[in-house]
Amino acid sequence: MTTQKRIVLSSDHAAIDLRQTIAAHIAAQGWEVVDIGPTSPESTHYPKHGEAAAQRVASGDCTLGIILCGTGQGIMMAANKVKGIRCGVCSDSFSAKMIRQHNNANILSIGARVVGEGLALEIVDAFLSADFEGGRHQTRVEMIDAIQG
Ligand code: RB5
Repeated sequence: MTTQKRIVLSSDHAAIDLRQTIAAHIAAQGWEVVDIGPTSPESTHYPKHGEAAAQRVASGDCTLGIILCGTGQGIMMAANKVKGIRCGVCSDSFSAKMIRQHNNANILSIGARVVGEGLALEIVDAFLSADFEGGRHQTRVEMIDAIQG
């Protein structure tokens, strides 16, 4: 498991309840949760929330991140625009484990309109319990990062 336990959470309006459930779930596991909102249910724009979370990870302020929107897709696209961010959308726990082990993903994205609460928590646990394996995967991750220049 990752040793530095500081994680940023962010979402748009479509995922506030699930984000707060995840925050409580991982805080109970000992993670220091930096929940950057939003808290009000008014419609908002997922790109700014994805970028804000991604900047926390890219700057080193947080080790990992979890972001959510309706599908998990739009906010993932925004986060991946930030240099150094590797974010994947997961709707199953196998993929959540593998994006840590093979892709060294530093942000997990979840669609709150796609998965239910129970599955979402399993996905989160799989992501947070796995570690990057390095080795041949290190070369491939470096190739991903090099695309951004
Ligand atoms: C908001 O209606 C919705 O478009 C957003 O949450 C997300 O699904 C976008 O990818």
